[in-house]
Amino acid sequence: MKIAVIQGPNLNMLGVREQQVYGPMRLEQIHAQMKEFAEQNGIEIEFYQSNLEGEIVDRIQECYGDTDGIIINPAAYTHTSIAIRDAIAAVNLPTIEVHISNIYRREEFRQKSMTAPACTSSIIGFGPFGYHLAMVGMMQVLSEITAIRAAQQGAVQE
Ligand code: DQA
Repeated sequence: MKIAVIQGPNLNMLGVREQQVYGPMRLEQIHAQMKEFAEQNGIEIEFYQSNLEGEIVDRIQECYGDTDGIIINPAAYTHTSIAIRDAIAAVNLPTIEVHISNIYRREEFRQKSMTAPACTSSIIGFGPFGYHLAMVGMMQVLSEITAIRAAQQGAVQE
């Protein structure tokens, strides 16, 4: 099982930027915790961060045929990017959107996600712990897909 973690603009500044909103944890620390959990559960995991919309689109497209699921925090592009939404829809992989802060308790412009409707689900407002929840959620989604495929194959063979 292989999961791609894709982080949008300014998330490389976690631990420095607006600590009252995002807390003191750095992105490297979040990724280290995710990696540890992935290793404990036999999951292959790859991390990517970019401040550029097109690079994020490219990284999502690279997941097609290579990756089982995507955990993505599109950051500010959440609220603007039809291109990222379309890329998520195009690869059609289980995708979980994560937001560290509760975007529904913040400015009005953050309360709409362009990307979430293309995703399987969203985890919002749990701080960095949301990434851990997303991994647990992804394992559940992927095991359900595996079970459905096995049942379908069984039905074909009968
Ligand atoms: C964020 C919320 C966005 O509105 C913001 O632009 C971010 C981070 C979050 O994780 O809470 O950069 O995606």
